[in-house]
Amino acid sequence: MNDLRLQHARLKGEMDAALAQVVQTCAFISGPQVQAFEQAFAAYQGVKHCIGVSNGTDALKLALRAVGVGPGDEVLTSPHTFAATIEAICEVGARPVLVDIEARHYTLDVAQLAGLITARTRAIIPVHIYGHPVDMDPLLALAAARGVAVIEDAAQAHGARYKGRLAGVMGQVGCFSFYPGKNLGAYGDAGAMVTQDDDIAEKLRLLRNHGQDPDRKFHYLMPGYNHRMDGFQGAVLKVKLPHLDQWNERRRQIAARYAAVLGDVSELVLPAEADWARHVYHLYVVRAPDRDHLAAELKQKGIDTAVQYPHPLHLTPGYEFLRYREGSLPVCERACRQILSLPMFPELRDDQVDYVAEQLRRLLV
Ligand SMILES: Cc1ncc(COP(=O)(O)O)c(C=O)c1O
Repeated sequence: MNDLRLQHARLKGEMDAALAQVVQTCAFISGPQVQAFEQAFAAYQGVKHCIGVSNGTDALKLALRAVGVGPGDEVLTSPHTFAATIEAICEVGARPVLVDIEARHYTLDVAQLAGLITARTRAIIPVHIYGHPVDMDPLLALAAARGVAVIEDAAQAHGARYKGRLAGVMGQVGCFSFYPGKNLGAYGDAGAMVTQDDDIAEKLRLLRNHGQDPDRKFHYLMPGYNHRMDGFQGAVLKVKLPHLDQWNERRRQIAARYAAVLGDVSELVLPAEADWARHVYHLYVVRAPDRDHLAAELKQKGIDTAVQYPHPLHLTPGYEFLRYREGSLPVCERACRQILSLPMFPELRDDQVDYVAEQLRRLLV
């Protein structure tokens, strides 16, 4: 599915030097390497502020707190996401209200949002799942009209674009994960938030470091967290960021190559890219009625696949308390039964992509 060793091998010289610098300066937590990455990522995103943190889950949690979400509030989001999105909402004491997805892009169905907004709704978290952006304009218009904050979960969408705008810069806060397998991945856990808002940025900086006044050590302005980014992760991400666009371009080439071989296979639904979207294919997810059989057959041919994600979150024991049941969110539930992720990472060679595509085609045609 992914072989991170290949990427490391190509960057090794530069990476070794960057990591050695962290050791030399002993800036293990926060420090100049993290700041340098924050500046570079803010410039890449075209925003004023980037605040590096410990991981993408903490980024979402801090963003929710910074826009004032707390106990008694409701937050609208997609059920078709990694658990972290919903977990962060619960963590700040709010209630996740799940919006079913639309079948083509697996992103939340914006048309259903208005009917789910209540007096308690404080925020919406659109999740740009798999690297395809949510249809943001109607979502942003609705949020503005109803006075609701928008926090983008861009954990899978580094470099993705909606009508030319980068994922992460359209809401009040954009949250990123740099989990190692992401399009931009660290060498451990890391995450970041981006924002144009000076007040929100200040609050995020305080919250990630125990609420401590940056100018007065051991003087606390609010209760916060230990959610700082490690120096090693800042150094790694700074080395990798200049390659992100080229890696995303290669992901798009691989997607086109898969589509060239599999486009006419009637049993398969391939990922769709809306005409307003630039998909960055964090995952290449197809849909097939007999997904488990296909996965087993491909495994026999030496091809790994994955299912992201097999269980609708609202039907897992951890989220029973939300009181959804089977059939509550039918499009998401059907997708979870049929989706299959094919190998997708920039270092895949053309012959490997062709092998995967041809083996899959042979099973179906
Ligand atoms: C959509 C989504 N949201 C949030 C997260 C959480 O990020 P992290 O694993 O860095 O905490 C992830 C990452 O796995 C994700 O894919």
